Amino acid sequence: MINLETLSLLDKNQVRDIARDFGTPVYVYSQEVLEAQADKALDFPNAFGLTVRYAMKANSNQNILRIFYNKGIEIDASSIYEVERAAKAGIPAENILLTSQELPLNMVFGFNKGLQFNACSLYQLETYGLEHQCKEVGVRINPGLGSGGTNRTNTGGSGSSFGIWHEQFNEIIDTAERYGLKINKIHTHIGSGSDPEIWKKVAGMSLNIVKRFLNAGHDIKILNLGGGYKVGRMSYEKSTDLQECGKPVRDSFIEFAEKTGKELKLEIEPGTFLVANAGAVIAEVIDVKSTPKYNFIITNSGMTEVTRLSLYGAQHPIVVVSKSETDEREKYMVSGHCCESGDILTPAAGDSEALSERWLTKAKIGDFVVIEGSGAYCSSMSVKNYNSYPTASEVLINHDGKASLIRSRGSLENMVEREKCVVKID
Ligand SMILES: Cc1ncc(COP(=O)(O)O)c(C=O)c1O
Repeated sequence: MINLETLSLLDKNQVRDIARDFGTPVYVYSQEVLEAQADKALDFPNAFGLTVRYAMKANSNQNILRIFYNKGIEIDASSIYEVERAAKAGIPAENILLTSQELPLNMVFGFNKGLQFNACSLYQLETYGLEHQCKEVGVRINPGLGSGGTNRTNTGGSGSSFGIWHEQFNEIIDTAERYGLKINKIHTHIGSGSDPEIWKKVAGMSLNIVKRFLNAGHDIKILNLGGGYKVGRMSYEKSTDLQECGKPVRDSFIEFAEKTGKELKLEIEPGTFLVANAGAVIAEVIDVKSTPKYNFIITNSGMTEVTRLSLYGAQHPIVVVSKSETDEREKYMVSGHCCESGDILTPAAGDSEALSERWLTKAKIGDFVVIEGSGAYCSSMSVKNYNSYPTASEVLINHDGKASLIRSRGSLENMVEREKCVVKID
């Protein structure tokens, strides 16, 4: 018997009920799983205090932000727009840290309300200093080593533009001194889906960086080690055990305090870890076809909802839920609905250009296809509206199993409302 990936977030009846009540494609999130992941993150080993920030780029729906905020989790924002979005969800500016490639045009927004800021370049530090002399500021450092699930999610090392290169220490100190800035936080984030061993090594390197800033007279209070904790979506993949990877880091904070007298608070910024396996997409089989080489299932979803498949060759469990129960299986390629040959739900692992068939339950038009592990970097990072397909709706299942709409389906009207017709039809 061939082993198929099975449903883990939803059961078959939930899939059929949600598809009937809300239509497809639809993102579905579980409040219970979101909260269970939040508890694990809040339990991260630490010596002198912990702040967990949710990397809201992973999924920005305000209900998800609120679920985490209610748990005591703060926000890591990657743009001023994310800051404003979190503020609209009701999260106070002082609980938001902005770490962005793009310096906000409106530097005033939020800063007078306590928004925290990490300078990610010498230019950002200089510009912040011009407007906020003598204030506290964090600095994001590229420690010279990175690790990501793919090269595209690696944010450390000389091939990455994130943060200030660690050897530019003197320039950082000079810039801070020019404006009387007090550097109080060092931040390193080396990638998404990082190798836990490299993450631990970078934690040690980051402590050495902190020591240099302390020696230069900056009172570093916090070391933020970013996110990147690997999450297994497929049944054969392993997730990072936060307890296991956090304990040696806690010990190194204790050792650091013994040597320097400085008790550093730890910050972490998980995104994927908190939401990846708390979400799934329910799509519908809209066609079934074959070539001499492959059988294809065509779904009414794809890169419009889960772009990371065609971007990274990411692997997500795909489960066919047939309208009538069947034990029949078939080897399939699964395609999305876009007029784009790269819109494939079954790429080869890590190679978005290669195809990889999967054994699935035999599919008929009208059956459902569930793409699991779709809570992180799916709704927030999809190629929305390509081929003018409307944005999918989002649904949250609460503790009683009740499904509520948390974002309605987009419309053609939404897509064209900001267009202006300046060309006349003759
Ligand atoms: C600065 C920063 N922190 C945290 C994260 C979250 O990473 P992950 O979702 O892999 O945990 C990211 C992701 O790109 C990031 O850039």
